[in-house]
Amino acid sequence: MKFVVKAGPVARQRSGCLILPVFAGGALPTATADADRAAGGFIRRLLRQGDFRAEAGDTLLLPKLPGLATPRVLLAGLGARERCDRKALRKAVRAAFMALGKAPVTAAVSYLGTVDVRGTDAYRRARIAAESWHDSAYRFLPHKTRETGNQPPKLRSLALAAAGDTAAVRRGLAHGDAIGRAISLARDLGNEPPNVCTPSWLAQRAREVAGRHRKLRVQVLDEARMRRLGMGSLLSVTAGSAQPARFVVMQYQGARASDAPVVFVGKGITFDTGGISLKPGPQMDEMKYDMSGAGTVIAVMQAVAELGLPVNVVGLVPSCENMPGGRATRPGDIVRSMSGQTIEILNTDAEGRLILCDALTYGARFKPAAMIDIATLTGACVVALGKHRSGLMGNSDPLATALLAAGDAADDPAWRLPLDSEYMELLKSPFADVANIGGRDAGTITAAAFLSRFAGDTPWAHLDVAGTAWVTAPQKGSTGRPVGLLVEYLLNRTAVS
Ligand code: BES
Ligand code: MN
Ligand code: ZN
Repeated sequence: MKFVVKAGPVARQRSGCLILPVFAGGALPTATADADRAAGGFIRRLLRQGDFRAEAGDTLLLPKLPGLATPRVLLAGLGARERCDRKALRKAVRAAFMALGKAPVTAAVSYLGTVDVRGTDAYRRARIAAESWHDSAYRFLPHKTRETGNQPPKLRSLALAAAGDTAAVRRGLAHGDAIGRAISLARDLGNEPPNVCTPSWLAQRAREVAGRHRKLRVQVLDEARMRRLGMGSLLSVTAGSAQPARFVVMQYQGARASDAPVVFVGKGITFDTGGISLKPGPQMDEMKYDMSGAGTVIAVMQAVAELGLPVNVVGLVPSCENMPGGRATRPGDIVRSMSGQTIEILNTDAEGRLILCDALTYGARFKPAAMIDIATLTGACVVALGKHRSGLMGNSDPLATALLAAGDAADDPAWRLPLDSEYMELLKSPFADVANIGGRDAGTITAAAFLSRFAGDTPWAHLDVAGTAWVTAPQKGSTGRPVGLLVEYLLNRTAVS
C-alpha cells in the first residue's frame, strides 16, 4: 500500500475515487462544498432529498458526477458538526475504507483528514487514516484453500488531501503505516492456530522481524539455558508439553548503549488448557490467543525498529504450552523461581504469572527505566472491564499515568486498578514463600500482586489484556491490542510525534 499526500483543487483530482466528508444536518466541510459547486449542486440536492443522513459511519458510493474528474465519489458521514470528535472521525474513516474495499478501486483521494475534528490535529488525522486502512484491509486467509467472498481490497494507493501542514500529514502517514502493519502482525500471530503457533514458531517469527532491521538483535534461549538461569517457575508450566519452551530476547538499540531501556515482557502461552487444573470445554479454542502478549511485544519491536525511535527497547517473550500429562505440574507442587522465591502452585491454570515472574526477574537485569508486561492473565479482568479497556496495575504512578494517557490518545484505552499491599495477604502459603492464586476475590489484582514481588524496585506496569486482545463476535479474531497503546507510549517518551 502506498500512502501519499496530495494538494490541489478537489474538482481536478484524478483518481479512482474521491472520499468526501459530510456533516449530518446539511453543513458541508470546505472540500465537499468545493466539489458540490463544481458538480452544480449535486451533493446538496441529494442531501436535501434526504438520501444521505451523514451519521458517523454512514457512506454512500456515487458514480461520476458532472464537473469532477474521478469516476466515483464516496460520501462519508461524520455526524453532527457540534458532536464530531475523534471517535466519530475514526468511525467515518473506517466505514469509508470498508465501503471502498468492496468497489473495484485501486486508487483514492481522501478529504476526511481536512476537517478540523475536535481532539485531533493534521498529524493524528493522517495516522488515523493509515492505521484504519490497515485495519479495514486485514484478512487472515493462510488456512483458506478457496475464495471466501471476503477477499482483501484492491486499493493500492491512498492519497490524503492536505490543507496546511503537509509535513505533519506525511509524518502521520509514516507513523500510522508502521503502527498499522505492527497491529496486523500481532493479529496474524494471535490468529494462527495453536498447532502452528508453537513456542519455536513464535521464536522464528521474532527472528524474521529482527533479521529485517540492523538495530534489532534477537537471542532465543532453550530449556537447558533456562534451567541454568534457574527459571524453575517457567519450566514448571511447560513440563506437561511435548513442545519445547522458548525464551526470546529482542534488543533494539536506538540510543546510547548506556541509556536505560524500556523492557517489554509478553505472555507467550501458545495454548492454555489449564494443565492438570483443566479448563472446561466451551470456548477452550480461544486459549490459542493466550500468546497475545507475546505477539504484541514482537509487533512493538517491529514498529520501534521501523520508526527508528531514539530509545533502547528490550522485548522479552517467555513462551510455552500449558498441557496436562504424566509429567505435568500438579496442584500442590512447589517450585523455585529465578528470583529464589519459592511458589506453591495451587492451580496450574494460573500459569501466566508463573512464566512472567521469571521473565520479570530476567528483565530487571537490564536495569530498565521502565518494565511493562502484557498478558491475557485473568478471566476476572474481562468480568471487571469487559472488552473495551485493558486492566492496568503497577508500582509507579508516573508510569501508570503515562500509559493511561497513551491508551486514550491511541484509542486503545486502559483503566487502572489498585494494588495496595493488603492484596498480597491473599497469596500467603503455609508451605512456600507465596501461593500462585489468591482465591475468588479481586482475581485480576492478586495476579498483579503476585507479579509485583518479582518487579522489585524497577518502575513496573502490568497490562491485563484478557478482554481486549481478541473479539468473539461478530468477527472473531485477534485485535492486535495493545500495540497502539505501547507505541504511543514510546512515541511520547521520545517526543518524536
Ligand atoms: N489465560 C487465562 C486467562 C483468561 C481466561 C483470559 C479467559 C481470557 C479469557 C489464565 O491463564 C487463567 O487461566 N487464569 C485463571 C486464573 C485463576 C486460576 C486464578 C482464570 O482467570 O480463571
Ligand atoms: Mn490459565
Ligand atoms: Zn493463560
